[in-house]
Amino acid sequence: MALERTLSIIKPDAVAKNVIGQIYTRFENAGLKIVAAKMTHLTQAEAEGFYAVHKERPFFNDLVKFMISGPVMIQALEGENAVLKNRELMGATNPKDAAPGTIRADFAESIDANAVHGSDSLENAAIEIKYFFG
Ligand code: PPS
Repeated sequence: MALERTLSIIKPDAVAKNVIGQIYTRFENAGLKIVAAKMTHLTQAEAEGFYAVHKERPFFNDLVKFMISGPVMIQALEGENAVLKNRELMGATNPKDAAPGTIRADFAESIDANAVHGSDSLENAAIEIKYFFG
C-alpha cells in the first residue's frame, strides 16, 4: 500500500451548510490525515487557473462563478491510497448518482453545487497541492 497525498476542496455550498467538521470526520475515520489546510475565498483568476483543464467545457463559466461565490476549505490529505480513498468518500460527481453514505449523497444538491472536489489521479494531486500550498 502506498502512502499518498491528495488535494481536497470543500466547496462553497458545503461551507455555507456548516458541514466542514462532518466532512473532516469522514476523512479522519477513513484513515486520511489532514496535513495542510486553509480557508480562502478564491479569486476568479485562481478558480480559472485551477479548472483550466475544463476551460472548453460548456459548464466552465458557471463552475468558476460557483467556486468564487463564497469561501472554500482546501486541504491536503495523506494516507494509504489517499487519491482513490478520497474519491470513494466523495461519491459520483452528480449527487443523484452518488452511492448512499458518500459525502455528495449526503451533502450535495446538484452537479453544479456538489460539495467537494478531490484530485482524480496521483499526478494531478501533486499539481493541485502545489497550486494551493506551494
Ligand atoms: S467529467 O465530465 O468526467 O469531466 O467531469 P469531472 O471531471 O468529474 O468533473 C468536472 C468538474 O466540473 C464540475 N461541474 C460539472 N461537471 C459536469 N457537468 C456539469 N454540468 C458540471 N458543473 C460543474 C464537477 O463538479 C467537477 O468539479 P470538481 O471540482 O473537479 O469535482
